[in-house]
Amino acid sequence: MSTTGQTPRMAELITIDDVADPRLGDYVALTDAELRKRYEHQHGVLIAEGPNPVRELVASPYPVRSMLVADDRLDRVADLLPGVDGPVYVVTQPLLHEIVRFKLHQGVIACGERLPPRDSAAVLAGARLVAVLEGLNDHENLGTLFRSARGLGVDGVLLGAGCADPLYRRSVRVSMGHVLHVPHAWVGHLDVAVPELAARGFTTVALTPDPSADDLRDVEVAATDRVALLLGAEGPGLSASALGAADVRARIPMHAGVDSLNVATAAAIAFHHLGRRA
Ligand SMILES: C[S@@+](CC[C@H](N)C(=O)[O-])C[C@H]1O[C@@H](n2cnc3c(N)ncnc32)[C@H](O)[C@@H]1O
Repeated sequence: MSTTGQTPRMAELITIDDVADPRLGDYVALTDAELRKRYEHQHGVLIAEGPNPVRELVASPYPVRSMLVADDRLDRVADLLPGVDGPVYVVTQPLLHEIVRFKLHQGVIACGERLPPRDSAAVLAGARLVAVLEGLNDHENLGTLFRSARGLGVDGVLLGAGCADPLYRRSVRVSMGHVLHVPHAWVGHLDVAVPELAARGFTTVALTPDPSADDLRDVEVAATDRVALLLGAEGPGLSASALGAADVRARIPMHAGVDSLNVATAAAIAFHHLGRRA
């Protein structure tokens, strides 16, 4: 946790007036996706932008390495400062724009430290409903899905082969920072992961628009059931092997010639349905 518990302390405020100040290194080139992916993995960092994601970062298990805030916004984030483990860099609005090179609404951004990756056993321990993703390589879909996962009571997310990094800036932002609270682990190919889920007592439900699948509304889960919901990528959907390995294939019936939903939309509907227990 970032907060220190009984003895609240104030983060150190440091005014910076030079865009080339090396202390701003974590915030450089944020719009260069390839460079950022390398940088964030090499340095073990993540970025949360905007007041709500920054607030969630401060409340999350990830340490806050630093915060960067426009001087005219400092009063609006004053309550967060005791939860910031590192320095708070204060800059003018124009300098902030020069540093991050995009319009940063509400003038606050923070850098967190990644934690060692969890293994799937840690995510599954005690979990009742988990999402298992295959090939979800779009950060915005991932962010939306994680936000729904947290809001609809999903206990954890397993990321299969081909998934993007859920802690990348776009994903953190779209999730409104909620991705920082949902336990996740990488599991590789689902044809290995699905039998492991079954061995741990999970019923695996593959979500597919295939008209031959069961109507999701007819899929009933008992209060004690452990459920793993498999979701596929935008283009191809779930692989044949993942579909074949699942206990149940479930569809959300479609209308008016629309063949499928966006994966994050489909996930939210299924989370709501399967998360509801008597
Ligand atoms: C855009 S869809 C992929 C469409 C792909 N042509 C297919 O047949 O799966 C992405 C993912 O969202 C979920 N999905 C989308 N629409 C769905 C629906 N109507 N019923 C069940 N799952 C759906 C599935 O998990 C799917 O793999």
